[in-house]
Amino acid sequence: MTTRKLLPFVDRAHPGGRSSMTCLYRCGNACAHPVPNESANEHFEEVVARAVSRRSVLRAGAVGAAAAGVLGATGWGAVSPAAASGTARATAPAGGPLSRFSGIAPTAATTDELVVPSGFTWSPLIAWGDPITRDAPAFDFDNQSVEAQRCQAGYNCDFTALLLDGRGRGARSGVLAFNNEYTNDELMFRGVGSSADLSDDQLRIVMAAHGMTIVEVRRERPGTPWRYLQAGRRNRRLHSETPFVVDGPAAGHAALRTSADPTGKHVLGTLNNCAGGVTPWGTVLSGEENFNQYFNTTGASDPDGRLKRYGITSGGRGWERVDPRFDVATEPNEVNRFGWIVEVDPDDPGSRPVKHTALGRFKHEGATIRLADDGRAVAYMGDDERNDYIYKFVSRKKHRPGNRRHNAKLLSEGDLHVAKFTGDGAGDGQHDGTGEWLPLVVDGRSQVPGWSVEEVLIWTRQAADLVGPTKMDRPEDVEANPVTWKVYAALTNNTARQPGQVDEANPRGPNKHGHVIEISEHRNDAAAVTFTWQIVLVAGDPTDPSTYFAGFDRDQVSPISCPDNVTFDRTGNLWISTDGMPGTLGFADGLYMLPLEGRERGRLKQFLSVPVGAECSGPVISADDRTVLVAVQHPGEVSGASPEHVVSTFPYLGDGQPRPAIAQVWRD
Ligand code: FEO
Ligand code: CA
Ligand code: CA
Repeated sequence: MTTRKLLPFVDRAHPGGRSSMTCLYRCGNACAHPVPNESANEHFEEVVARAVSRRSVLRAGAVGAAAAGVLGATGWGAVSPAAASGTARATAPAGGPLSRFSGIAPTAATTDELVVPSGFTWSPLIAWGDPITRDAPAFDFDNQSVEAQRCQAGYNCDFTALLLDGRGRGARSGVLAFNNEYTNDELMFRGVGSSADLSDDQLRIVMAAHGMTIVEVRRERPGTPWRYLQAGRRNRRLHSETPFVVDGPAAGHAALRTSADPTGKHVLGTLNNCAGGVTPWGTVLSGEENFNQYFNTTGASDPDGRLKRYGITSGGRGWERVDPRFDVATEPNEVNRFGWIVEVDPDDPGSRPVKHTALGRFKHEGATIRLADDGRAVAYMGDDERNDYIYKFVSRKKHRPGNRRHNAKLLSEGDLHVAKFTGDGAGDGQHDGTGEWLPLVVDGRSQVPGWSVEEVLIWTRQAADLVGPTKMDRPEDVEANPVTWKVYAALTNNTARQPGQVDEANPRGPNKHGHVIEISEHRNDAAAVTFTWQIVLVAGDPTDPSTYFAGFDRDQVSPISCPDNVTFDRTGNLWISTDGMPGTLGFADGLYMLPLEGRERGRLKQFLSVPVGAECSGPVISADDRTVLVAVQHPGEVSGASPEHVVSTFPYLGDGQPRPAIAQVWRD
């Protein structure tokens, strides 16, 4: 693969670590705005936590400094592939074939290359614009249309799901589903300096490029690369005009009714779909994250601060020019119809996808399901905002193996909780403690005094503010390890946390590089309302004494920053993709493996890095543990880049433009 640097890399990263162009289009410059959570619920906590955390930070600093002194500051630069690969034998029973890769060295953020370990090969599986119906036109950058975009793969790819047909591992066919989180209007079209320059036709193309893409895939045999089928029976696009059904307790509530939908039960479209999960019953979940940025709030009133608490405070993207529902003053309830977890059945292209109100409304990063001991479905969820919360949903009904119709309703009713983390303050050399899942809705009744169930679910952030959860450092993916059932939450960073606001669960202020918390639920039961926790990774340059790699020697691990998506291989190693390393460490984002058990626990090593401007998202470790998929989101997204001045041409398909794509990596 040739390395191309067609523009000088002169980007100035925003505080969150991304290029300013990414910040604008991905989250509407969230970190340039005040933190939406102004609740005082932590003030009592902070009095206690401050005393605790001061001790623990001092302790961590002392330990780190001592370690650095003894070991010497060899740092990440000294991690040779051989040293980084080690033996990997202690990671888990037998260790999966993938875990034995030789780790790569960090890649400069300016490199237009997807770098994989020695002995591995990669290829694009599907890219923005690839046709996904029999009649769809081939991608033509200079001749885009809304009709074409609705039957081509959407823009930017985040969460990725690979559902294999039949009995898994040996399958030669399956379905690939991926989120199309957002668009970059300046890179999609020539001559567009900002969204304000888009023609009405271009606006409609942009809207159609959001949502999700579902395609059938095939391969010759396990371990060989997948290819997607243009005319697969189950192929499907979900976009801004796709009809969704609203279900759960808040369906039909007055705050969800609009002039186009007086029932409050039928919504067009899903927006800013970030992470997600595959359910045990074979459906795909997807989180509507930074939906706020699509709505123009000019002239809108906000007497209860509900818009402000959700960051719905901007002039939008101009979508109201072609669809007035995106004008909050004209259609004040439309915005309440986004910010949900959506569920889609990838096997039935005729099925209507669902927005689940029982799981609450916030900037949903995603949702992943674990079955409790009694068969209830549990969803772990992050609200990706500085100083927002981690949630857990527990279904009322129990999973019935093989009964898809019954299981499809599991997320329609249940209990909703929000997490409170309490540090133990003990001098045990770890950031750890106990936790509670604080109730918001239990047995169909609101647990927030003065609030109805519907109100709790529609304005979940404000309801949670009233019960005293812990303000976290931007909760991203929260997933349960299928081997140990411990739950891992990625906290990507928090530039707004002040030194005086740290606690043991969020021990750095500001938190530039993020961390990962390991949660062990009481009796290992997902329905438990208490847990213990400890931080397993405090990210950053390993020479930084505030970093922590589950106690592993810091001179033998890779640098990492801004953990975002997580997944597991079949032996229980944690795989972490990052979003923000160019701005925080000057390296390209990538995918990492973190062993969690045995002597190798904490020995982080890097598997791949993505091209200039891109974040690494949606990792999938195939069930046979031989293929890795990653979503290469926003390649070439560097401020100043344009179709005339590209910094990346990933995935190098000959059209000279960067195209977000799902990449697959396999052992030669
Ligand atoms: Fe779309 Fe929280 O990242
Ligand atoms: Ca994410
Ligand atoms: Ca991300």
